[in-house]
Amino acid sequence: MLILIDGEWCARVLQCNGLHELLIVTPHHRRHLPKMRAAMDGVSRAWELNSAEIDQKWLLAAVGAGKTDSWREGFGALVARLWARGQVDEADGFIRVPVRWGIDVSSLKPGNARKKPDCHRIRIEDTGQEFSCLSESSVLHGCVFAGHGVLPSGCHGGGCGICRIKVVQGRYACGQMSRQHVSDEDIAQGIVLACRIYPLSDLVFELAGKAASRVKDTNTTRVQSPRREQ
Ligand code: FES
Repeated sequence: MLILIDGEWCARVLQCNGLHELLIVTPHHRRHLPKMRAAMDGVSRAWELNSAEIDQKWLLAAVGAGKTDSWREGFGALVARLWARGQVDEADGFIRVPVRWGIDVSSLKPGNARKKPDCHRIRIEDTGQEFSCLSESSVLHGCVFAGHGVLPSGCHGGGCGICRIKVVQGRYACGQMSRQHVSDEDIAQGIVLACRIYPLSDLVFELAGKAASRVKDTNTTRVQSPRREQ
């Protein structure tokens, strides 16, 4: 597994090396260490010329988005191996990752290494609001980032069920969700948790649960309010 810091200083996980190894690669020169630090601010704790300490939770979220359970198990095995080699500080949740500078990253994944994530248009049917969302971001994240407060959120990890929605149009990838809040039947009907779905095309969704009732109440109140005399 490789973490790529690309030509535009964006960090993402490439999976072309499988899960047996973990390495940070970049086309940049070693003299750009300060920029590298800035690019990974909040994700890493310590950066040196030959290694960096990367937040284990960030890494798991980056590789785990939309992946199956076997991926998570593979990730667990990788962390166990690194821990045995002293590359994981279990108490702190950071992993020491070797850095390779000045690599021709296009050779690592031909035609794909420099590919930017796709951007999709998302529409909230209840309110008519629209926003853009990258294929690597959850729909909830895209909605919050666009400043639409209509979709409530809690744990951001598929556990509390507060961000329940119904997708009525479009394709998406699903991450893990609590079965207490969405059953297999729900998923079959497009009822999912917005914090755990990632758009593969433009999407249209409806609010579900309390958020839907709240918007409905607001619309009803607006319709019933008396018109002002001119
Ligand atoms: S915010 Fe908790 S399940 Fe989505």
